[in-house]
Amino acid sequence: MSSISLHDQLFASITQRFESNADLELGDYIFSNSLFHTIAKEQVEFIFAHRLEIIEHLGLAEAVNELVEHCIESTKRYTYERNQFVNFTTEYDELLNAEFTDFIHQIRAALQKSRSEAELATEMIAVLKVHHERLRLIMASYCVTYQDGSLKENPLLRTVPCEEYSAEFQLSVMGFGLHDLIEPVLDVGCGTKGTLVDYLRRQSIAAFGVDRLAPESAFFFRNDWFDFDYSCQQWGSILAHQSLSTHFVYSYLHQPVSIEKFTRLMMNILASLEVGSFLGYAPGLPFFETEVEKMGKFKVTRRKISMHLPEVEQIAYSAKIYRVK
Ligand SMILES: C[S@@+](CC[C@H](N)C(=O)[O-])C[C@H]1O[C@@H](n2cnc3c(N)ncnc32)[C@H](O)[C@@H]1O
Repeated sequence: MSSISLHDQLFASITQRFESNADLELGDYIFSNSLFHTIAKEQVEFIFAHRLEIIEHLGLAEAVNELVEHCIESTKRYTYERNQFVNFTTEYDELLNAEFTDFIHQIRAALQKSRSEAELATEMIAVLKVHHERLRLIMASYCVTYQDGSLKENPLLRTVPCEEYSAEFQLSVMGFGLHDLIEPVLDVGCGTKGTLVDYLRRQSIAAFGVDRLAPESAFFFRNDWFDFDYSCQQWGSILAHQSLSTHFVYSYLHQPVSIEKFTRLMMNILASLEVGSFLGYAPGLPFFETEVEKMGKFKVTRRKISMHLPEVEQIAYSAKIYRVK
């Protein structure tokens, strides 16, 4: 087997492990961690049959780095698809990196030791157990750092569906017709499909999207919105439907530790606007907009969204913040 196809096979087997746990929730990861300590018989067979090549491959620093990157990306996707309010920071990236690097070295050591498939299966399960228990501690530490209260009741461990909407719906909620948009348009939190960006491009509007789970294409940036460089282009309109502001509201209500980070992010976006350009979003951010209005450089307009839900009445509007000076 060539090293290219071995690389692909190893990537595929990681993806397959995540898929085989698709029915489980983040809460299971903390409270029923043993469910993740298993390995499919076919995977053991494959690894044992190719053990010499795999040992050689995992001895290359570059191959290990690529696998670690893939594991981290898959872990984040698996986590974010279950609860969109989790957002691993750089320090968690470092913890994940250290853990996955060690995990791969432990797998290599297990392969070097094992003389039969049965021995390999036993060794692999022992390695997986330690690995998943360490990852569980990392996840638990994230939850208690970012959300007050007991781990058992932690809302970050609940499954929160992350809906994506049609382009027409997003534009109507934000209160925009195509003629209101100034090019180029940037859709922040554009979704895994980039529906609004695709739609606008079909209408010949220059549009781009940023999302940590963005599609792979020239018009999308797969980035965390906290790390994105909003000044990489002079945007005419920056849009954010049920993304940035939803997360800011969540943090305002439930994760006070992140409020400052969201405020800085919003100010960073506003600072990137030229006079005449704007940021448009829904839901509204009453606690933030009043501060922006005091600055004198921006004008805020609001448009009510009828939802008939008294508990979200205060944020049930779309807002547009224009740079006027
Ligand atoms: C509810 S979906 C809305 C998607 C789209 N705007 C729509 O209305 O259909 C929220 C999006 O925000 C993205 N998101 C959440 N946190 C993010 C972050 N820190 N950086 C980048 N994207 C993020 C998610 O990946 C998801 O695609």
